Amino acid sequence: MAPRIAVVGSTNVDLITYVTRMPAPGETLEAPDFRIGCGGKGANQAVAAARLGAEVVMVSKVGDDAFADTSLANFRRFGIDTAHVGRVPGVSSGVAPIFVEPSGENSILIVKGANAHLSPADVDAAADDLAGCDLILLQLEVPVETVHHTIEFARARGIATVLNPAPAAPLDLDVVTKVTFLTPNQTELALLTGLPVTNEDEAIAAARTLVEKGIRCVVVTLGAAGALVVEASGVSRVAPVKVTPKDTTGAGDAFIGSFARFWAESRDIAAALADAALYAADSVTKPGTQTSYASAEEFAALKARRG
Ligand code: RIB
Repeated sequence: MAPRIAVVGSTNVDLITYVTRMPAPGETLEAPDFRIGCGGKGANQAVAAARLGAEVVMVSKVGDDAFADTSLANFRRFGIDTAHVGRVPGVSSGVAPIFVEPSGENSILIVKGANAHLSPADVDAAADDLAGCDLILLQLEVPVETVHHTIEFARARGIATVLNPAPAAPLDLDVVTKVTFLTPNQTELALLTGLPVTNEDEAIAAARTLVEKGIRCVVVTLGAAGALVVEASGVSRVAPVKVTPKDTTGAGDAFIGSFARFWAESRDIAAALADAALYAADSVTKPGTQTSYASAEEFAALKARRG
């Protein structure tokens, strides 16, 4: 049976401009290319899991505009359950103007729009569907009280959770330490723990404080350098997969959404993280956000080619 995964999170439309360089203040600069695509950290993670064969339930909010129709049609195209994706009257959908430089590096602005209206009551309204899930995925592009509420909800029912604490925001540590998996980058880890995280030793020390408080596994993402995995049993590393990047937008979401899907089936953290690193690396070799995510068949072929 396919694993069942819920995402309580954001839905955006990405407005992606490919630039030769970022303009200076006051400067007008021509850019070579532009694309509109579906995005939002929550939606991206949902699509990655769905592309890999998971049954996915999305709990989210869209606005009162054409972008809402685009996002809903996109979820349905991937077989994602949209029964709990609500429309907010008189409000724009979430949008993200994104700038991608020739190196593949991106800069992102977020207008939360309807995402700011996802409430704890929306999570309760989805309770019956959430209760049957193997895992719930969370990020921070929706109100923090909704994230806290979902963590408590999942904990009370013994449902595993992955919290991707991005974009960085202050959180209640007493609640956050009830998640199963936490996937911060170094900046997010420093904000969460109040400890310095300027190198790997500090990252391990900070992550250990969270494991001591109850988190089963902290995966500190290091971008192109892979990730550190801190558990009560010790520290390990997810090796980076070397590729030539075209567009890194959504690579972190590819990593987390695919990890959720792989772990929900195998319950093998190391194997799921290694596969997720390959899945995310493959995504940066293609343009766009969700458009760069491989299907289960494409990923199987990629793995076979790599031996
Ligand atoms: O992580 C990438 C995502 O961040 C983009 O899709 C954008 O919408 C923002 O949410």
